[in-house]
Amino acid sequence: MLIFLNNSLVPEEAAKVSVLDRGFLYGDGVFETLRVYSGTIFHCNDHLDRLFQSAEAIYLQLPFTRDYLIEALYKTLEANHLNDAYLRLSVTRGVSEPGLDIGGCPSSTLTIIAKEFSGYPDNLYQSGIRAAVVNTRRIPASALNPAIKSLNFLNNIMARVEATRLNAAEAIMLNMEGYVAEGTVSNIFMVKDGIVKTPPLSAGILNGVTRSIVIDLLKENGIPVIEQAFYPNEFYTADECFVTSTLYEVMPMTSINGSAVGSGQPGSLTQTILNLFRRLTT
Ligand SMILES: Cc1ncc(COP(=O)(O)O)c(C=O)c1O
Repeated sequence: MLIFLNNSLVPEEAAKVSVLDRGFLYGDGVFETLRVYSGTIFHCNDHLDRLFQSAEAIYLQLPFTRDYLIEALYKTLEANHLNDAYLRLSVTRGVSEPGLDIGGCPSSTLTIIAKEFSGYPDNLYQSGIRAAVVNTRRIPASALNPAIKSLNFLNNIMARVEATRLNAAEAIMLNMEGYVAEGTVSNIFMVKDGIVKTPPLSAGILNGVTRSIVIDLLKENGIPVIEQAFYPNEFYTADECFVTSTLYEVMPMTSINGSAVGSGQPGSLTQTILNLFRRLTT
């Protein structure tokens, strides 16, 4: 595997970053996960918009243009002969003097990893995934804005540990007010009486690229959708639930805290949305 490191492609064994890099020392950086369908990066500009916004929010001035990054992403794909893949682009603040001050970081570190990926297995979409509402709360925007896709991922990792212990694939994180926020790597949707509901951005969540696409698809197809805060007890009376992310696309969530959601099978509206979404990827 060839990795894009700063400005060149290097073999995986040679893709080394300093132990003094602030990404390693503090998780001081930002990242994006992108999906490639038949050689085309899906909604590349939306991901890069978010990357630049995340970087700006942590006072990290990216020394690359959007075009440079797009070229680097495609070069990495090409060098690894990949057609269906995921790409992980990370930028750290680079090496600095010891200590927290962000001054004196002359160059950020850019890495791009590309791996073959053609989606999760069909049987997962047929059965849906199990989720669990966990105790770990989503970090509040007043502490670290969850809209920033930062390398600081421990909040999500701790939540995922809880979910795994509860035999669930995804954790449902609440915000500090007890409303449903998001998954560890996904945004959450529920369906009740034909209306789709998803937490608003003000619930303290990542503005998921897939979330936005799904909301637009729902609107375009005349399916009612509202962005409204809700408590987790609404899951018990929901007809359907699903999560969205670049890698999950639209994944049914058929059990929460060991209880079946609706019939316990992926719902028909979820299937409709998945089909609409997949039409965009072919
Ligand atoms: C915390 C969190 N929420 C939501 C998402 C979904 O975002 P996207 O649809 O842009 O992949 C992710 C993606 O990794 C995430 O980490």
